[in-house]
Amino acid sequence: MAKLINEGRTRIQGEISIGGAKNSILPILACTLLTNKTVRIKNCPKISDVNNMLNILKTLGGSYYFEGDSLYVDTAKAETYVMPPDLSRELRSSIFMLGSILARFGQACCVYPGGCEIGNRPIGLHLSGLKMLNVSVIEEEGSIICNGENMEGTAIHLDYPSVGATENLMMAASGAKGKTIITNAAREPEIEDLQAFMRKLGFNVTGAGTSTIEIDGKLDIEVPDVVDHKIISDRIVAGSMLCAAAICGGNLNVKSIEPLHISSTLSKLREAGCNLDIGKSNVHISATDRLKEIRMIETLPHPGFPTDMQALLFALCTVADGTSIIVENVFENRFKHAPEFTKMGAVITQRDRTAIIRGVKHLRGAHVTAQDLRGGAALVIAGLAAWGYTTVDNVEFIDRGYERIEDMLNSVGANITRIN
Ligand code: EPZ
Repeated sequence: MAKLINEGRTRIQGEISIGGAKNSILPILACTLLTNKTVRIKNCPKISDVNNMLNILKTLGGSYYFEGDSLYVDTAKAETYVMPPDLSRELRSSIFMLGSILARFGQACCVYPGGCEIGNRPIGLHLSGLKMLNVSVIEEEGSIICNGENMEGTAIHLDYPSVGATENLMMAASGAKGKTIITNAAREPEIEDLQAFMRKLGFNVTGAGTSTIEIDGKLDIEVPDVVDHKIISDRIVAGSMLCAAAICGGNLNVKSIEPLHISSTLSKLREAGCNLDIGKSNVHISATDRLKEIRMIETLPHPGFPTDMQALLFALCTVADGTSIIVENVFENRFKHAPEFTKMGAVITQRDRTAIIRGVKHLRGAHVTAQDLRGGAALVIAGLAAWGYTTVDNVEFIDRGYERIEDMLNSVGANITRIN
């Protein structure tokens, strides 16, 4: 397992560009099964979750190649509807292949998905939605066997605005006869990106970004031989880089982003005393030497504060001048970074989904272990400001969602070495 060694007491300054969104490219790769045309995707992040997803498409009979900064995907020859168990267990997003495989083949077979262990990660909303589309679902010995040869459009209300369930059902519904309306749908920007991509494939999908999404199964436009799509910027990587500057009194311009997608994070950075100059597609942050107290952070579905930014703001709270309360409402086990921060000198009290953090003047370098993707990134960012060396183990978790995080940070003043 690789590790990152961080010299600490860094001052982050300069300019950084953000790449494509992990949580947008993954459902869009699943969605390539809905066309036999070649798809050209720009701004695809070079992260391990993408490699896993591309390997799943390959085992289904699809093919892909990179040319310059474009990824070309062709699933015209895809011929099997059985997902490879080993790869499916690697990542959560394998579960929303169900919807696209069903729409393509009328049948699908997969195992329970993997992904970061930040909670139970149930899939009941996915499966109940598929059943409402007239899909028969048999769960046996850890496998899920679906028959959707006669899917019919219907009205589906999600008990919780699940991102993955919304995406899965959007894709499944594209293979159903008639119209499907999903209410209480997730409103994340990645859902809007998936809708934009589905519309380029010829599907009549509307409403993404709101709680009500309509999908009409029939194709209604002439689709070009090569479908072009540029993935939206990764709002969580953007927020992570802003936090890197914030925690060490830095001065950083973060480019190629959509500031509107990170307004809840920007609001917290302002509360912490950072100066923000917000442009059309960039944010310039300059931070004070000591962050002010951030009283309360509660994670919620979009447009509320994103759970994926919780660990990064947690890092800022450990050194802010005051006491912060963080409530993690979305996942039941997403404070695994807390004990790691304690090793660095943070003062934390945790009860279930609530963490109370009393800021200290500075963290001390320590040997810590990433427990999941965003918690791992938060430990690296905390190490920037810590006094002394910080070693972060299990860097593979971080590589799932960040393109070599050490290169990004070293390009703006950090001193981080990867040891494989
Ligand atoms: C997506 O996960 C993201 N992953 C996660 O990002 C993100 O944290 C999450 O959405 C919330 O924004 C991808 O897009 C690949 P959910 P997903 O379904 O779809 C419960 C990262 O770090 N739920 O919205 O799995 C679930 O237990 C990752 O980039 C059910 O109860 O999230 C959780 O409490 C981590 N039943 C809540 O909903 C279901 O059938 C939110 O889950 C499905 C979900």
